[in-house]
Amino acid sequence: MKNIKFYKMGEMPLEQHKVRVVQKLHLVPIAERLNAIEEAGFNTFKLTTRHVFLDMLTDSGTNAMSDQQVAAMFQADDAYAGSESFARLHQAVEDVLGKKYFLPAHQGRAAENIICKAFVKKGSIIPTNYHFTTTLAHILDNGGKVEELLCEGALDIKSDNPFKGNMDVEKLEACIQKHGAENIPFVRMEASTNLIGGQPFSISNLMDVRHVCDKYNIMLVLDASLLGENAYLVKQREDHWHENTLGDILKMMTNLADLVYFSARKLSSSRGGGICTNQKSLYSRMEALIPLYEGFLTYGGISVREIEAMAVGLRETLDETMISQSPSFIKYMVETLDKAGIPVVTPPGVLGCHVDAGQICSHLSQSEYPAGAFAAALYLISGVRGMERGTLSSIRDENGVEVLADAELVRLAIPRRVFTLSQINYVIDRVMWLYDHREYIGGLKFVYEPPVLRFFMGGLEATSDWPERLMAKFRKDFGDSL
Ligand SMILES: Cc1ncc(COP(=O)(O)O)c(C=O)c1O
Repeated sequence: MKNIKFYKMGEMPLEQHKVRVVQKLHLVPIAERLNAIEEAGFNTFKLTTRHVFLDMLTDSGTNAMSDQQVAAMFQADDAYAGSESFARLHQAVEDVLGKKYFLPAHQGRAAENIICKAFVKKGSIIPTNYHFTTTLAHILDNGGKVEELLCEGALDIKSDNPFKGNMDVEKLEACIQKHGAENIPFVRMEASTNLIGGQPFSISNLMDVRHVCDKYNIMLVLDASLLGENAYLVKQREDHWHENTLGDILKMMTNLADLVYFSARKLSSSRGGGICTNQKSLYSRMEALIPLYEGFLTYGGISVREIEAMAVGLRETLDETMISQSPSFIKYMVETLDKAGIPVVTPPGVLGCHVDAGQICSHLSQSEYPAGAFAAALYLISGVRGMERGTLSSIRDENGVEVLADAELVRLAIPRRVFTLSQINYVIDRVMWLYDHREYIGGLKFVYEPPVLRFFMGGLEATSDWPERLMAKFRKDFGDSL
């Protein structure tokens, strides 16, 4: 966001866009919300738009599109093979990400499927700054394992470390020595590490990781789904990069990686995904998998209209007024809650405001899913839908024992240019009320637990009548307010 100073209003984010198409919202009464969350098995993924007031589940596919993106969708070339739309996207990938070979995939996890099918085998070890749920699932599915090599203090909720997404390069060296370079098909760096609160890595850290990869001749893979925001925070926070353009920073980061993949649902405010590289040999190892799993090489399972929106969206990633909007709202929300003494991940990152439900619900054990319970409780008292990012989103080991998450977070996503500041203030207000009444929040237990990615469709129930008691307290305090 440009540095625009207010006269008497203090410091707050100022939108650099105007709203021209809107979608009506509905805040249904709390009794309806109680029914809805019970029917959804206390899983916010299973709520429907009809029952959600502010949808802060994710930024994935929910960022607002620009007028230019929507306009571009009308010029789509619906050819099965050799589409002009794909040619425009290919050019945008080359211009923005600096890679000349490009494979389209229908979304980020589809790109992960292709990469893992091509490179991961039984016994493979994938060192990463931190895993993402779908990445881990694909690595495990292909017989590999992940080694989390986060830097010291990355999981501290309250912190002033500007780059909590950095990889610990000493641990990386030790990991390679332990497992042998031949068992490590690639090292994975994720931009703005999703699961630990949208925290970025620095360019100097990426350079150090590259250096180790070169030393052992290991491929470096960059998950660029949140690369634009990572670049923005590098510009804000890292010495030597303050004066560079976002384009320079993005290219610097992608140049350091052998393979770059992304979810276009995030990176370019569209739907789709892809993999790009400058190495023909890497491209060739994956090429045949695209028609098998995705679609022909010039659409990869993505609608041509979305391909056009993706091409424009990728170029718009370089626009600082666009890319800074979500991080500046997140900063506002995080700092306001932090000042009020509510535990949230600091420093403010990207993607959303991450509330530490582990600390707030310290009366619950991790196996009672405090983050899931907090997300359900917040929905009940506000109509705001967040996402559990804790033990519910974790897995069971090969013996069926639950792997407790490193942190019990609830993510309140702030997709690009979707919410107004008064809506953010409403969320802050309701989080404050819930924090003051946190003793009302009880546990959850599974009644239906899918074997893979259980958090998406799993069904739970409350371990007591706490939702009813929370609703009664809300009514007492708020009267007839929704
Ligand atoms: C860092 C990261 N990688 C991969 C993915 C998977 O992308 P998609 O949801 O498009 O499959 C996501 C989605 O949220 C993500 O945040």
